[in-house]
Amino acid sequence: MNFPSSTITDLFKIKYPIIQAGMIWVSGAKLASASANAGCLGILGAGSMKPDLLREQIKSAIRDTDRPLAVNIPLLYELAPEQIQVALDEGIKIFFTSAGSPKKFTTKLKDQGCTVVHVTSSPELALKCQDAGVDAVVAEGFEAGGHNGRDELTTMVLIPQVVDAVSIPVIAAGGIGDGRTMAAALALGASAVQMGTRFMMTGESSAHKNYKDLLVSTKSNSTQLSLKELVPVRLIKNHFFQLINKAEEAGASKEELIKILSKGRAKMGMFEGDLSEGELEAGQICGLINDLPSVADMVKGLLAEYQQTLSLFK
Ligand SMILES: Cc1cc2nc3c(=O)[nH]c(=O)nc-3n(C[C@H](O)[C@H](O)[C@H](O)COP(=O)(O)O)c2cc1C
Repeated sequence: MNFPSSTITDLFKIKYPIIQAGMIWVSGAKLASASANAGCLGILGAGSMKPDLLREQIKSAIRDTDRPLAVNIPLLYELAPEQIQVALDEGIKIFFTSAGSPKKFTTKLKDQGCTVVHVTSSPELALKCQDAGVDAVVAEGFEAGGHNGRDELTTMVLIPQVVDAVSIPVIAAGGIGDGRTMAAALALGASAVQMGTRFMMTGESSAHKNYKDLLVSTKSNSTQLSLKELVPVRLIKNHFFQLINKAEEAGASKEELIKILSKGRAKMGMFEGDLSEGELEAGQICGLINDLPSVADMVKGLLAEYQQTLSLFK
C-alpha cells in the first residue's frame, strides 16, 4: 500500500499510518488490542481509569496482541502522574499526552526511553511541543470529538500550518473517518491520521450500545462545541448539552459548571448509556458514519477506499 510518508509507521513500528485515538470511557483493552491487531496503533484512554483499572487494562491488552500499544494521558486530571507510573511499570513505551503543557512530563518520559506525542490545536502550540522535545504532534481540528482548542481552527487549515511550523512528524486528527478524508489529510502533509469517532463506532469500543445506536442515526449538525469558557468539548446536542449551555448563557461560574459536570456525566452518557442526562462526546464526522463494523472490517474498508481515492489522481 502506498503512503506518502513512513515516518510514523517507522516510529511506532506499525503497518498503517492510522492511530486509534485515546478516548475516555471508550478505548479500553478490547479496542486498543483490536486496533493494534488490525495494523494500527492502539491507544488505551487512561483519562477515565483509576490506576488499578489502568494496570488491569494494559495487562489485558498486552495479552491480546503482540503489537505496539500506547497510552493516552490527559494532563488535566490529577491522577496523571500515577497513571504515567503505572503505564511505565507495565512496559508501555509510547505515550500520547494531551490537555496540558507538553513540558510537564516529556523529559521524564524521554529519559525512560519512551516515545512521546502531544496533542495540539494550533501551529504555535505545536512549536512549543517541538521545543519540549516530543517526537511527533497530533494536530487536532475543530471538527474533532472530545476536548478541543479555543481557536476553532478546522483540520483543513490547521494541518498545513502545523506541517510548515514544525520539523517533527504531524498526525492529523478531527473529521477523519473514511478513505477519502484519510487521503485528504495525508495530502495536506500529515504523516498519519488519528481517528476517534470512527473507532468509537466499532464493535470493540466500550461505548454503551445505546450510545452506539444513537451515533448511527446522528446527522452532520448533531454536535456542537460546548463549555467554551471552561474546557471546550464537542458534544451531541442532548438534554445534558442544553442544560450546560443554558447554565453558561446564564453566566454560571466555573465552580457551578464544574458542579454540574462532576456528577459523572461522561461515564453516565458514554459508558452507561443514559442518552438524556449523560455527556456524549463525538466529532462532526459522526454524520457521515452509519455503521458499527468490527475494527478489522472498518480498517479494511477504509484502506480500500483510500486506494480508490488515490486512483482518481493517476
Ligand atoms: C468519546 C471521545 C472521548 C475522547 N477522549 C479523549 C481523551 O481522553 N484524551 C484525548 O487526548 N482525546 C480524547 N478525545 C479526542 C480523540 O483523541 C481524537 O483526537 C478525536 O476524536 C479526533 O477527532 P474525530 O472524533 O473527528 O476522529 C476523545 C474523543 C471522543 C470522541
